[in-house]
Amino acid sequence: MTAVTARAPGRVNLMGDHTDYAGGLVLPMAIDLETIVSGERGGDTVVLTSSAEDGEVVVPLDVADPAAVTPSWGRYAAAVVAALRPGCGFRGSVHSTVPVGAGLSSSAALEVAVALALGFQGSALELAMLCRRAEQDATGVPCGIMDQLASAAGVADHALRIDCTTLDVTPVPIPDGLEVVVVHSNEPRRLTATPYAERRAQCEAAAAIVGPLPQASRELVEAIADPVLRRRARHVVTECARVDAFVAALASFDAARLGELLVASHASLRDDFEVSTPAVDALVEKLSATPGVFGARITGAGFGGCVVALAEAGTNLDGWHVRAADGASVSG
Ligand code: GLA
Repeated sequence: MTAVTARAPGRVNLMGDHTDYAGGLVLPMAIDLETIVSGERGGDTVVLTSSAEDGEVVVPLDVADPAAVTPSWGRYAAAVVAALRPGCGFRGSVHSTVPVGAGLSSSAALEVAVALALGFQGSALELAMLCRRAEQDATGVPCGIMDQLASAAGVADHALRIDCTTLDVTPVPIPDGLEVVVVHSNEPRRLTATPYAERRAQCEAAAAIVGPLPQASRELVEAIADPVLRRRARHVVTECARVDAFVAALASFDAARLGELLVASHASLRDDFEVSTPAVDALVEKLSATPGVFGARITGAGFGGCVVALAEAGTNLDGWHVRAADGASVSG
């Protein structure tokens, strides 16, 4: 028996949502809220308990249908087992400070921590790809690479500019004096397979007309005949441009520009991509009007969930004040 402790952070996305699966740019950061899986390797099943949930998850190493495993949080662990097929089992417990259903990637943190606890060997990118497959198998949601890659490859005090076509990851320093706050709309996020998959399919349909969206010109996009596909493509094209503009504004710590870009991103996600809700819009407006706040936007998949606000250091907002953290690690 080998005692093991694996840790993996959640993430918040600062700029670039609904661009990863279109091959675009994203700018998440791993955060100082994390999931810890500790226990011992051995045996021929993976057995996990959770400090937040009742019951025990028991996964045979040859599990065939991870999505059917109960209790439901066990689906993520089971899908990692199915993707990794580890040589031996594990018995241990899960403890997490990443809030569930908030858009902070609690499921990615769980997958990455479980994969490392079970003995995954390889690069951060390989770890992220395995865990994305697990997320897709567990939920049926055809997600992109952002959440798992941010959790696997995070760098303390930095956001990560990820080009989701080349999969190049570039750490971008977060300026001292910038407070990152995640605020829940109190509207539960419902990332059911349907609207997310529909948005992704619409991006693919638009790309079939104008070519890969991250490279498409605004002129080509504005010429798409179908108004829905045109709006979806416009969001991806403008959002990718906002990622690089945001990186530049972080480098010069141009607070006014950061605020403008956050507001423009939210408007694009609300109007062109249609993944916001009235409660989230109201929260973004309230936060954006709060003294000390540079701007705010919906973050993650949307359809409810959380808003990220950037503010002057020390601004007192009711939410999770997060710092950029290192990516996942394992000891033992
Ligand atoms: C979810 C998915 C990510 C990404 C975001 C939206 O978090 O898991 O891959 O598509 O939504 O940016």
